[in-house]
Amino acid sequence: MSIFIASDHAGYGLKQVLLKFLKDELLLDVVDLGCNSSRAVDYPDFAKLLVRNVKSDKENRGILLCGTGIGMSITANRTKGIRCALCHNAEYAKLSKEHNNSNVIAIGARFIDEDSAKEIVKAWLDADFTAGRHKKRVDLIDAD
Ligand code: RB5
Repeated sequence: MSIFIASDHAGYGLKQVLLKFLKDELLLDVVDLGCNSSRAVDYPDFAKLLVRNVKSDKENRGILLCGTGIGMSITANRTKGIRCALCHNAEYAKLSKEHNNSNVIAIGARFIDEDSAKEIVKAWLDADFTAGRHKKRVDLIDAD
């Protein structure tokens, strides 16, 4: 499993906080796909870059940050096989993995404080897909 993280300018500061948290406290390898400053960029570019990387292995996970998380989640969910959950708290994050097998989460950096963002990421990474009755529903997402 590889973990990827990306943001636009609005999510840049929180991305840096989460990168440090993932590396120094959770001792995980994370691939930072940018952006690299708080200079204005376009969130779809970074959502698409992250999605391409996450799609390369079904165990991969991705974390996206923008002002609201909305633009990132809308963009990510355009790609078949990506299940991006916009998470407002740790319970959303946990349930998005357990019930929806989310492989990407989006966080709104202008609305979620640093400690809550860390809780969201940790809860999501600790969670497992419960499959069972949820498997058929998740399969239906990608069915034609
Ligand atoms: C940037 O101002 C903002 O629109 C973006 O970060 C995001 O919130 C879009 O959904």
